[in-house]
Amino acid sequence: MPAVGKDIPNDSSSGHVSGRSVFLNDVPPTRNELLVDFFGSRVAHGRILSIDCSVASNVPGVVALLTAQDIPGRNRFGSIMQDEHLLADSIVNYMGDPIVLIVAESREAIEAARIAIQVDIEELPPILSIDDAITAGSFIGEPQLIHCGNATSALAQSQHRIDGSLSTGGQEHFYFESQTAIAEPGENGRITIHSSTQHPTETQQVAAEILGVPFNHVVVICKRMGGAFGGKETQAAAPAAMAALAAVNTGRTCRISLSKDSDMQYTGKRHPFQSRWSVGFDSQGLITALALDLFADAGCACDVSPAILERALLHADNAYYLPNFRVTGRLCRTNHPSNTAFRGFGGPQGVVNIENIIEEIAIYLEKGALDIRQINCYGVEDRNTTPYGQRCENNTLPLLFSQLRLSSDYDARQEQLAKFNTESPTKVRGLSMTAVKFGISFTTKTLNQANAIVNIYTDGSVLVSSGGTEMGQGINTRLRQIVADELGVNFSDVLIAPTSTEKNNNTSATAASSGTDLNGAAAINACRTLRKRLADFAAPLLADTKNGQTLSPDQLRFENGFVFVPQQPHQKIAFHDLVLQAYKARISLGERGFYATPGINFDRETGKGMPFFYYTCGVAATEVEVDRFTGELKVRRADLLIDAGQCINPGIDRGQLSGGFMQGLGWVTTEELKYSSRGELLSHSPTTYKIPNIGDLPEVFNLGFFENHDECVSLLHSRALGEPPLLLAISVWAAAKHALSFVSKDAARRLSLPATGETLLLAMEHSRSKSATALR
Ligand code: MTE
Ligand code: HPA
Ligand code: MOS
Repeated sequence: MPAVGKDIPNDSSSGHVSGRSVFLNDVPPTRNELLVDFFGSRVAHGRILSIDCSVASNVPGVVALLTAQDIPGRNRFGSIMQDEHLLADSIVNYMGDPIVLIVAESREAIEAARIAIQVDIEELPPILSIDDAITAGSFIGEPQLIHCGNATSALAQSQHRIDGSLSTGGQEHFYFESQTAIAEPGENGRITIHSSTQHPTETQQVAAEILGVPFNHVVVICKRMGGAFGGKETQAAAPAAMAALAAVNTGRTCRISLSKDSDMQYTGKRHPFQSRWSVGFDSQGLITALALDLFADAGCACDVSPAILERALLHADNAYYLPNFRVTGRLCRTNHPSNTAFRGFGGPQGVVNIENIIEEIAIYLEKGALDIRQINCYGVEDRNTTPYGQRCENNTLPLLFSQLRLSSDYDARQEQLAKFNTESPTKVRGLSMTAVKFGISFTTKTLNQANAIVNIYTDGSVLVSSGGTEMGQGINTRLRQIVADELGVNFSDVLIAPTSTEKNNNTSATAASSGTDLNGAAAINACRTLRKRLADFAAPLLADTKNGQTLSPDQLRFENGFVFVPQQPHQKIAFHDLVLQAYKARISLGERGFYATPGINFDRETGKGMPFFYYTCGVAATEVEVDRFTGELKVRRADLLIDAGQCINPGIDRGQLSGGFMQGLGWVTTEELKYSSRGELLSHSPTTYKIPNIGDLPEVFNLGFFENHDECVSLLHSRALGEPPLLLAISVWAAAKHALSFVSKDAARRLSLPATGETLLLAMEHSRSKSATALR
């Protein structure tokens, strides 16, 4: 004791590695349980002319075939705009768009029904790229803008100017557990849904609206997810509502669990982006003006795309001070599944632009990119106001840069690799250091709230529930640590209950990296109320009344399983004795705590305000080697340094740091979504979609935590780090670009993201054939 700050293993770790953890689809079927799946559109865009289920309904084992007409409530949902249907009623918007729900006794029956269903669709021209959407004027919502100073006039006056563009690809979440839900019908229209969801409340609301029942009729429970990464923030709701619809229709428990291929084909992904940019700078590389236009492929519906685009705009400055700046953003509506939250939530797509631009400036001026980063970095005393007006308080970025520059031996390695590159006929190396300054808070102010219930039982054991969901990131372990310390009991005496809307209402998604910040603070508030109540009761018990002593309750300490006053440590009462006595004296041993992040505000009209409670900052230096003849990329070494404040659980934080980086490494190097000309996803299994594996780990991988003992405003002076490490992988891409700059400036400029072997090879080949032409 205390538990906070200790390397306590994630409380699911042994279950996960031994296979004993129970995920939803591991729950054995109950009697009479049915399976649910859907018949989806086979065109990316079209109008439904007719649906014929007569043959399919005679397939043995088929219990129900449901269409939009069978929806008792409202066939429209969406957290920002209600523009999604559960089952298509007239227009299909993407390949796989669900049309008929198949409810059957077996998987075989589902497959047979799927073949027998006849849907006649008039094909409409699909929009399948950002370029096509821009040409067609196919957008969602209004353009977004953040600006400061005057980018146009500063660009005109700048000493140097470069214009360019960059495209970044989407990314499949690749959670191991696909979208899954089990719905159990209850009495009088009530229903319980077990869902693999980051957002039980939204899942509850969507299911209730589809069913046409009040929210209090629906209970959503999530014990854990087998990974989520943003993919279950909004998109767990539709499968849950499908299971619920089937359960209500058949009166039987219904289960849906998408196959890996279906999940990859039919659910939304990270938003691909395209940008156009113009940068002005002086001969030192100091940026004097930046104009940036971002276009995101939102897919066929709104989902949370406006918030994702907003976060991209709010992260376009990243670690760099921009006195004259303008960033605009537009959401393109295309005929892909609706793109959605993915770790970083638009942040990576914003940040990669300025990191790319700095590499471009370095190539143009033939200077070191790190020097340019450091002179543009946000200052400590001045030059530290973001374009939207929030100041970077207690800015550690300059220190992070200089510390990693030394500890990664950056300068010597630059010299070594430059020499290597002149000598090696087959390989070329690059090394780059990039930064992250990630804003912590939902940019939608309302969502920054949480509630938690702390129940103490009469044996002194404690059960906590909150809206926070466990997806592998360790929120449950952290909450146990926090509550154990608040009540002064053992870590092992505190357990976390499965998340349920019945216990905690109106919760936000566990997202925006703020799960522990919000739910932990709510739990602390509950604990403090309980402690106050128990202290009031304990003070007279501990006072030496014979000698006329009185004790003030706030003198009491709760530590090591005892309650005592520091002056008389021998006169103590065990926590479990105290709570039993309190119970007998009819004192409540349960409490609900609430928390709302103070001080945040952002005005979308003006693009100004303080959207973030604080920032999590870090830097990474990565060295790569590219094969000049195959384009194969290898990460030779990566050094990460993150300012996570005072870690609640250093071991879990190391897992988030390394895991987030590796997931980002996949996004920037090998993960590529390939579509047919009809909009079918072709890369829908691990055989064609390459996520990083153990062999892709950097050969040398140094994880560093910056020692920061400042009194950061955040929870127990820790800093959230669920998403920020993903953005550190941008250093891998920047290093690849740096390597290409040794082949030619042109090769480097051509690099898009992801830097797959093919992309790297084509960039080098193009510049080789160009110089060959020049020679001739
Ligand atoms: N870590 C694991 N193992 N699995 C996940 O699904 N999701 C990430 C991150 N780390 C994720 C993860 C995302 S997208 C977010 S927003 C945060 O965890 C959410 O949890 P937190 O707010 O409790 O950090
Ligand atoms: N991050 C993650 N999820 C969200 C956000 C955000 O900023 N806003 C709405 N959902
Ligand atoms: Mo994370 S993308 O905010 O779920």
